[in-house]
Amino acid sequence: MRKIFAALLALFVLTVEAPVASAELLKFSGSPHLLPAPVMVVGAYTPGGQANFAVFHRGGVLTSGKDGGSMRVSFGVKGDAEKSLTYQSVKASGACTINLPSLKYLSETDLLGSFSGRAPCGCFQDKLKAAGLTAVKGAEVNAPMVEEFPISLECELEDDIAIAPGSKSRLMILKVRKVWADEAYIDAKGKINPMSVSGDPDSSLIFFSHSHAENGGYYGYGSFLGKSGEISKRYREGR
Ligand SMILES: Cc1cc2nc3c(=O)[nH]c(=O)nc-3n(C[C@H](O)[C@H](O)[C@H](O)COP(=O)(O)O)c2cc1C
Repeated sequence: MRKIFAALLALFVLTVEAPVASAELLKFSGSPHLLPAPVMVVGAYTPGGQANFAVFHRGGVLTSGKDGGSMRVSFGVKGDAEKSLTYQSVKASGACTINLPSLKYLSETDLLGSFSGRAPCGCFQDKLKAAGLTAVKGAEVNAPMVEEFPISLECELEDDIAIAPGSKSRLMILKVRKVWADEAYIDAKGKINPMSVSGDPDSSLIFFSHSHAENGGYYGYGSFLGKSGEISKRYREGR
Protein backbone atom coordinates (compact mmCIF):
# COMPACT_ATOMS: atom_id res chain seq x y z
CA MET A 1 0.00 0.00 0.00
CA ARG A 2 2.85 2.32 0.98
CA LYS A 3 4.66 1.55 -2.27
CA ILE A 4 1.53 2.28 -4.32
CA PHE A 5 1.09 5.57 -2.49
CA ALA A 6 4.72 6.47 -3.16
CA ALA A 7 4.28 5.60 -6.86
CA LEU A 8 1.12 7.74 -7.09
CA LEU A 9 2.87 10.57 -5.33
CA ALA A 10 5.83 10.33 -7.72
CA LEU A 11 3.40 10.47 -10.67
CA PHE A 12 1.75 13.53 -9.15
CA VAL A 13 5.12 15.20 -8.63
CA LEU A 14 6.18 14.44 -12.20
CA THR A 15 2.97 15.71 -13.79
CA VAL A 16 2.05 18.61 -11.53
CA GLU A 17 5.34 19.76 -9.98
CA ALA A 18 7.43 20.30 -13.10
CA PRO A 19 5.93 23.63 -14.24
CA VAL A 20 5.74 24.85 -10.61
CA ALA A 21 9.46 24.09 -10.14
CA SER A 22 10.51 26.16 -13.17
CA ALA A 23 8.33 29.06 -11.99
CA GLU A 24 10.15 28.85 -8.62
CA LEU A 25 13.49 28.96 -10.43
CA LEU A 26 12.50 32.14 -12.23
CA LYS A 27 12.02 33.83 -8.87
CA PHE A 28 15.80 33.57 -8.18
CA SER A 29 17.24 37.02 -8.83
CA GLY A 30 20.90 36.29 -7.99
CA SER A 31 23.61 35.54 -10.49
CA PRO A 32 23.43 32.01 -11.96
CA HIS A 33 27.18 31.41 -11.97
CA LEU A 34 28.78 28.41 -13.56
CA LEU A 35 30.86 27.28 -10.62
CA PRO A 36 33.67 27.04 -9.87
CA ALA A 37 35.95 28.85 -12.35
CA PRO A 38 39.74 28.67 -12.72
CA VAL A 39 41.69 31.49 -11.07
CA MET A 40 43.81 33.17 -13.76
CA VAL A 41 46.47 35.75 -12.95
CA VAL A 42 46.84 37.92 -16.03
CA GLY A 43 50.22 39.57 -16.50
CA ALA A 44 50.87 42.50 -18.85
CA TYR A 45 53.32 45.37 -19.24
CA THR A 46 51.65 48.70 -18.58
CA PRO A 47 52.05 51.48 -21.18
CA GLY A 48 54.82 52.72 -18.83
CA GLY A 49 56.62 49.35 -19.11
CA GLN A 50 55.93 48.05 -15.58
CA ALA A 51 54.97 44.40 -14.99
CA ASN A 52 51.42 44.32 -13.63
CA PHE A 53 49.30 41.36 -12.58
CA ALA A 54 45.58 41.00 -11.75
CA VAL A 55 43.19 38.15 -11.00
CA PHE A 56 40.38 37.04 -13.32
CA HIS A 57 37.91 34.18 -13.06
CA ARG A 58 35.44 35.09 -15.81
CA GLY A 59 36.67 33.21 -18.86
CA GLY A 60 38.53 30.02 -19.68
CA VAL A 61 39.19 27.81 -22.68
CA LEU A 62 37.47 28.75 -25.98
CA THR A 63 39.09 26.21 -28.30
CA SER A 64 41.48 23.42 -27.49
CA GLY A 65 43.51 23.91 -30.64
CA LYS A 66 42.03 21.03 -32.61
CA ASP A 67 39.09 23.03 -33.91
CA GLY A 68 40.74 26.33 -34.81
CA GLY A 69 44.48 25.94 -35.32
CA SER A 70 45.77 27.47 -32.09
CA MET A 71 44.41 27.11 -28.59
CA ARG A 72 42.33 30.12 -27.62
CA VAL A 73 41.46 31.29 -24.13
CA SER A 74 39.58 34.26 -22.75
CA PHE A 75 39.14 36.49 -19.74
CA GLY A 76 36.44 39.03 -19.04
CA VAL A 77 37.04 42.55 -17.72
CA LYS A 78 34.03 43.67 -15.72
CA GLY A 79 32.74 47.25 -15.35
CA ASP A 80 34.14 50.01 -17.52
CA ALA A 81 37.02 48.10 -19.11
CA GLU A 82 38.58 51.26 -20.59
CA LYS A 83 39.43 52.31 -17.01
CA SER A 84 41.06 48.97 -16.10
CA LEU A 85 44.87 48.99 -15.97
CA THR A 86 45.01 45.39 -17.17
CA TYR A 87 42.71 46.15 -20.11
CA GLN A 88 44.69 49.24 -21.11
CA SER A 89 47.97 47.30 -20.83
CA VAL A 90 46.83 44.30 -22.90
CA LYS A 91 45.31 46.57 -25.56
CA ALA A 92 48.48 48.67 -25.81
CA SER A 93 50.98 45.78 -25.86
CA GLY A 94 48.76 43.28 -27.73
CA ALA A 95 49.92 40.55 -25.36
CA CYS A 96 49.55 39.07 -21.90
CA THR A 97 50.22 35.93 -19.92
CA ILE A 98 47.76 33.77 -18.02
CA ASN A 99 49.39 32.34 -14.93
CA LEU A 100 47.76 29.59 -12.89
CA PRO A 101 48.71 29.78 -9.20
CA SER A 102 48.76 26.87 -6.77
CA LEU A 103 47.18 26.83 -3.31
CA LYS A 104 50.66 27.45 -1.89
CA TYR A 105 50.26 31.03 -3.17
CA LEU A 106 46.61 31.58 -2.28
CA SER A 107 47.05 34.70 -0.12
CA GLU A 108 49.54 36.23 -2.59
CA THR A 109 47.03 35.58 -5.41
CA ASP A 110 44.22 37.19 -3.42
CA LEU A 111 46.42 40.26 -2.94
CA LEU A 112 46.91 40.59 -6.73
CA GLY A 113 43.13 40.70 -7.18
CA SER A 114 42.41 42.98 -4.24
CA PHE A 115 43.88 46.25 -5.43
CA SER A 116 44.90 47.89 -8.68
CA GLY A 117 48.39 48.38 -10.03
CA ARG A 118 47.34 52.01 -10.42
CA ALA A 119 47.39 53.70 -7.01
CA PRO A 120 44.90 56.53 -6.20
CA CYS A 121 47.75 59.02 -6.93
CA GLY A 122 47.81 57.65 -10.50
CA CYS A 123 51.29 56.16 -9.95
CA PHE A 124 52.20 52.51 -10.40
CA GLN A 125 52.24 50.18 -7.39
CA ASP A 126 54.10 46.91 -7.77
CA LYS A 127 51.65 44.29 -6.47
CA LEU A 128 53.88 41.37 -7.40
CA LYS A 129 56.76 42.78 -5.36
CA ALA A 130 54.39 43.39 -2.42
CA ALA A 131 53.38 39.72 -2.67
CA GLY A 132 57.06 38.64 -2.66
CA LEU A 133 56.80 37.08 -6.13
CA THR A 134 59.04 37.38 -9.21
CA ALA A 135 58.22 38.62 -12.72
CA VAL A 136 60.03 37.11 -15.73
CA LYS A 137 59.58 38.19 -19.33
CA GLY A 138 57.88 35.75 -21.70
CA ALA A 139 59.90 34.15 -24.48
CA GLU A 140 57.31 34.51 -27.26
CA VAL A 141 55.31 37.60 -26.36
CA ASN A 142 56.00 40.93 -24.72
CA ALA A 143 54.36 40.15 -21.36
CA PRO A 144 55.56 39.18 -17.87
CA MET A 145 54.96 35.80 -16.18
CA VAL A 146 54.98 34.85 -12.49
CA GLU A 147 58.02 32.65 -11.97
CA GLU A 148 56.69 30.88 -8.85
CA PHE A 149 53.36 29.78 -10.38
CA PRO A 150 53.35 26.26 -11.86
CA ILE A 151 51.66 26.99 -15.20
CA SER A 152 51.90 30.03 -17.50
CA LEU A 153 50.44 30.65 -20.94
CA GLU A 154 51.99 33.26 -23.20
CA CYS A 155 49.22 34.82 -25.26
CA GLU A 156 48.68 37.39 -27.96
CA LEU A 157 45.51 39.45 -28.07
CA GLU A 158 43.42 38.37 -31.03
CA ASP A 159 40.23 40.30 -30.38
CA ASP A 160 38.16 41.92 -27.68
CA ILE A 161 34.43 42.25 -27.76
CA ALA A 162 31.69 43.81 -25.66
CA ILE A 163 30.32 41.17 -23.29
CA ALA A 164 26.76 42.25 -24.21
CA PRO A 165 25.39 44.89 -26.61
CA GLY A 166 25.95 48.31 -25.02
CA SER A 167 28.07 46.87 -22.20
CA LYS A 168 31.39 48.45 -21.23
CA SER A 169 32.67 45.08 -19.97
CA ARG A 170 34.96 43.37 -22.47
CA LEU A 171 35.81 39.77 -23.29
CA MET A 172 39.45 39.36 -24.27
CA ILE A 173 40.11 36.65 -26.83
CA LEU A 174 43.66 35.34 -26.73
CA LYS A 175 45.70 33.06 -28.94
CA VAL A 176 48.08 30.87 -26.90
CA ARG A 177 51.64 31.08 -28.23
CA LYS A 178 53.53 29.07 -25.61
CA VAL A 179 52.74 27.02 -22.51
CA TRP A 180 55.09 26.68 -19.54
CA ALA A 181 54.54 24.00 -16.88
CA ASP A 182 56.51 22.98 -13.81
CA GLU A 183 57.69 19.42 -14.53
CA ALA A 184 56.19 18.28 -11.21
CA TYR A 185 52.77 18.75 -12.90
CA ILE A 186 53.57 16.67 -15.99
CA ASP A 187 52.58 13.01 -15.86
CA ALA A 188 54.12 9.95 -17.51
CA LYS A 189 52.07 10.63 -20.66
CA GLY A 190 53.51 14.16 -20.91
CA LYS A 191 50.17 15.77 -20.00
CA ILE A 192 49.67 18.67 -17.58
CA ASN A 193 47.84 17.79 -14.37
CA PRO A 194 45.79 20.19 -12.18
CA MET A 195 48.03 19.31 -9.22
CA SER A 196 51.53 17.96 -8.82
CA VAL A 197 51.73 14.27 -9.73
CA SER A 198 53.12 13.69 -6.20
CA GLY A 199 49.62 14.55 -4.92
CA ASP A 200 50.79 17.37 -2.58
CA PRO A 201 47.46 19.12 -1.69
CA ASP A 202 49.17 22.55 -1.65
CA SER A 203 50.12 22.06 -5.31
CA SER A 204 46.49 22.11 -6.52
CA LEU A 205 45.53 24.88 -8.92
CA ILE A 206 42.98 27.36 -7.50
CA PHE A 207 39.31 27.60 -8.40
CA PHE A 208 36.88 30.34 -7.48
CA SER A 209 33.19 30.20 -6.73
CA HIS A 210 31.94 33.72 -7.43
CA SER A 211 28.85 33.26 -5.40
CA HIS A 212 27.51 35.43 -2.62
CA ALA A 213 26.44 32.27 -0.86
CA GLU A 214 28.06 31.47 2.50
CA ASN A 215 30.64 29.24 0.83
CA GLY A 216 31.51 31.57 -2.07
CA GLY A 217 35.29 31.90 -2.42
CA TYR A 218 38.37 29.83 -3.21
CA TYR A 219 38.55 26.08 -3.69
CA GLY A 220 41.23 23.52 -4.48
CA TYR A 221 40.95 20.72 -7.01
CA GLY A 222 38.39 18.13 -5.87
CA SER A 223 38.82 14.38 -5.75
CA PHE A 224 39.16 12.46 -9.02
CA LEU A 225 35.78 10.94 -9.99
CA GLY A 226 36.54 9.07 -13.21
CA LYS A 227 37.16 9.44 -16.91
CA SER A 228 34.59 11.05 -19.21
CA GLY A 229 33.02 8.46 -21.47
CA GLU A 230 33.77 5.67 -18.99
CA ILE A 231 31.44 6.94 -16.24
CA SER A 232 28.38 6.61 -18.52
CA LYS A 233 29.45 3.20 -19.87
CA ARG A 234 26.60 1.24 -18.26
CA TYR A 235 24.03 3.34 -20.15
CA ARG A 236 25.72 2.63 -23.45
CA GLU A 237 26.21 -1.13 -23.09
CA GLY A 238 24.40 -3.03 -25.83
CA ARG A 239 24.07 0.06 -28.07
C1 LIG B 1 39.22 35.86 -7.07
C2 LIG B 1 39.08 37.10 -7.91
C3 LIG B 1 38.52 37.03 -9.16
C4 LIG B 1 38.40 38.17 -9.96
N1 LIG B 1 37.82 38.06 -11.19
C5 LIG B 1 37.71 39.17 -11.98
C6 LIG B 1 37.15 39.05 -13.29
O1 LIG B 1 36.82 37.96 -13.77
N2 LIG B 1 37.03 40.22 -14.01
C7 LIG B 1 37.43 41.44 -13.54
O2 LIG B 1 37.29 42.45 -14.24
N3 LIG B 1 37.99 41.55 -12.30
C8 LIG B 1 38.13 40.44 -11.52
N4 LIG B 1 38.70 40.55 -10.28
C9 LIG B 1 39.12 41.89 -9.79
C10 LIG B 1 40.49 42.35 -10.32
O3 LIG B 1 41.50 41.38 -10.12
C11 LIG B 1 40.85 43.63 -9.58
O4 LIG B 1 39.93 44.63 -9.95
C12 LIG B 1 42.27 44.11 -9.76
O5 LIG B 1 42.52 45.10 -8.79
C13 LIG B 1 42.53 44.72 -11.14
O6 LIG B 1 43.88 45.09 -11.16
P1 LIG B 1 44.50 46.17 -12.19
O7 LIG B 1 43.78 47.46 -11.92
O8 LIG B 1 45.95 46.25 -11.79
O9 LIG B 1 44.24 45.68 -13.56
C14 LIG B 1 38.85 39.42 -9.47
C15 LIG B 1 39.43 39.50 -8.19
C16 LIG B 1 39.55 38.36 -7.42
C17 LIG B 1 40.18 38.46 -6.06
